[in-house]
Amino acid sequence: MFRKKLALDATRIQEQFDLVLDALGDLDITRAMAYATAGGKRLRGFLVLESARLHEIDLARAIWPATGIEALHAYSLVHDDLPCMDDDDLRRGRPTVHVKWDEGTAVLAGDALQTLAFELCTRPEVGDAGVRAELALTLAQASGAQGMVLGQALDIAAETAATPLTLPEITRLQSGKTGALIEWSACAGARMAQADPDPLRQYARALGLAFQIADDILDVEGDADKAGKRLQKDAQAGKATFVSLLGLDAAKARAAELVDQACVALDSYGAQAETLKDAARFVIARDS
Ligand code: IPE
Ligand code: IPE
Ligand code: MG
Ligand code: MG
Ligand code: MG
Repeated sequence: MFRKKLALDATRIQEQFDLVLDALGDLDITRAMAYATAGGKRLRGFLVLESARLHEIDLARAIWPATGIEALHAYSLVHDDLPCMDDDDLRRGRPTVHVKWDEGTAVLAGDALQTLAFELCTRPEVGDAGVRAELALTLAQASGAQGMVLGQALDIAAETAATPLTLPEITRLQSGKTGALIEWSACAGARMAQADPDPLRQYARALGLAFQIADDILDVEGDADKAGKRLQKDAQAGKATFVSLLGLDAAKARAAELVDQACVALDSYGAQAETLKDAARFVIARDS
């Protein structure tokens, strides 16, 4: 069952975090980093490991970028929750890092998690130097001002925009803030194998949008205890989402269409891609 596979990979990634973060010593900043990386579904790390399996890359190599992308994602969440961003006090069922410690620690823990992500992707264990450089280059592009950070900037700007965003504008926003890291994750296995990442890229583009639509739907009608974060905040904050533009029913229909598209994109892999197709179905069925 898909949820079991996801949970098994989540455990592997947690063990790797324990190893890496324990080696940094016991300081306030490293405690905050460990706290921020604990929990979560580990979907991005799972995508790295599953795309690696699809390309017969050893787990011992793939676990590094899988843990790396989860470090980068955790950084994005710590900063997303800051008072100057979404101002949230709950994440993964626990107080956010700036509430548990303070804003300075949250900013710095986020910064250190971001650089840790690049360290983990370029560790010698990952493979030859060309592969490691390619992972780092593409992760920089996915994370920065043409990827996640761009999406976050558009998200914040939309809160005070004079007119509601259009469908193409919301698509661009969400492809950045959520899609870019998901795309990088799904392509990582192909990159490690120096194979063509294009089918996985097509899969992940559809998956990333479906994932964010599901997050926006959860915000409206999810259960906060299950989600582990405050809900019903997007409309009040003036967030531009597929739900704000299309309404719940049309957003759900769009997410389901995107999942079908994601699955079709993997047809060339045959039965071996079944787990990734299950991941796409899971993304819109989840409650957290
Ligand atoms: C939450 O991501 C932030 C978004 C991009 C919507 P996840 O829903 O993957 O969060 P965790 O890692 O499972 O906590
Ligand atoms: C966060 O999106 C995206 C990133 C952290 C890059 P949201 O703001 O919608 O995520 P939640 O709802 O707080 O998890
Ligand atoms: Mg946000
Ligand atoms: Mg948020
Ligand atoms: Mg959200």
